[in-house]
Amino acid sequence: MIEKTTPNPENALRARQFLKAAGFYELATVEGDQPRVRIFGTAEFFEGKLYIQTGKVKNVYKQLVANPKAEIVAFKDGEWIRITCELVPDERIEAKQDMLDKNPELQGMYKADDDNTIVLYLQNAHATISSFTHEPVSFEF
Ligand SMILES: Cc1cc2nc3c(=O)[nH]c(=O)nc-3n(C[C@H](O)[C@H](O)[C@H](O)COP(=O)(O)O)c2cc1C
Repeated sequence: MIEKTTPNPENALRARQFLKAAGFYELATVEGDQPRVRIFGTAEFFEGKLYIQTGKVKNVYKQLVANPKAEIVAFKDGEWIRITCELVPDERIEAKQDMLDKNPELQGMYKADDDNTIVLYLQNAHATISSFTHEPVSFEF
């Protein structure tokens, strides 16, 4: 069970800036008792929350519908971030359009009103930024 957190836009933005600066991140889900990881790149700040994007046809989405628990890790400039969270689908057109507007390279594959595009926001997120040279820094959103 992931401990409940209070939404915190400032911390969500902080995590988003780290992921964007890293360029890509690994997203872990679970399928039954099997961990699944893959590379993701989408990370946008919308209405105070950190959103990612995928396609409903993908296994990653099916896994998240069955079990919203996820973990994200990324590395940049000698620091790494790990975020333990739940990923919550947001079906609103405006949330999907915001993601596509900020990522024009997705527009050839996805439309806000197609049956495939989905955005998900991080909820109950516990983030820790670590390094070999400083103490871990933890925050929530
Ligand atoms: C640099 C990079 C960034 C990616 N970003 C995303 C992304 O944000 N969303 C997405 O759905 N797939 C993204 N992909 C593709 C996924 O890694 C790929 O579709 C993967 O197979 C999805 O996981 P699944 O097979 O478990 O469903 C990215 C791939 C790369 C190489």
